[in-house]
Amino acid sequence: MDTAAYLRSHIRTVPDWPAPGVQFRDITPLLQDPKVFRVLIDAFVHRYMDRALRPDVVAGLDARGFIIGSVVAYELGVGFVPIRKKGKLPFTTVEETYELEYGSATVELHTDAVKPGDRVLLIDDLIATGGTMMAGKKLLEKLGATVMEGAAIVTLPELGGEQRLRSAGLPLYTLVSFD
Ligand code: PRP
Ligand code: ADE
Repeated sequence: MDTAAYLRSHIRTVPDWPAPGVQFRDITPLLQDPKVFRVLIDAFVHRYMDRALRPDVVAGLDARGFIIGSVVAYELGVGFVPIRKKGKLPFTTVEETYELEYGSATVELHTDAVKPGDRVLLIDDLIATGGTMMAGKKLLEKLGATVMEGAAIVTLPELGGEQRLRSAGLPLYTLVSFD
């Protein structure tokens, strides 16, 4: 079995959660099994260890992007910065409001999280409409950083996020696709 199929077989689909009509792609089984978790993290680390793609900083999106992003940053030997839902960060912040597949949200980033010119890898667990990753990209760019790539375990191309992000000039690296 190739890596994508192996990872896919460990993602659980929960119908009608958190709202009717949503097929929720649950990544917790990927994290629960240490062998699978290692395959998952290594898939990102191998790509971003490459000299040309090695970021200065990894930014993770609240909340599941923290689980993957912080481990990838640790393995790459670079810093990790959290992009959090509004009201959680204690220092001065920049903020962005965006629409989700189910509802809307505002995310924040500390103003000293990145420096102008930093090359940032932006990580989340999943891309649906792309709103969350787009908001993260805008926050990092407000502080003068460049988002070199967006990475996620799962993409849901039918919801349009992948196309929207690529059209906005963000290269993407995803491991599993659900149509
Ligand atoms: C989920 C997921 C992504 C986002 C993707 O997070 O973890 O962050 O939705 O959707 P989008 O591409 O349409 O923006 P959610 O907002 O449910 O928050 P959580 O991580 O706190 O569960
Ligand atoms: N975030 C937005 N849509 C989602 C989905 N279908 N499954 C898991 N997380 C999501």
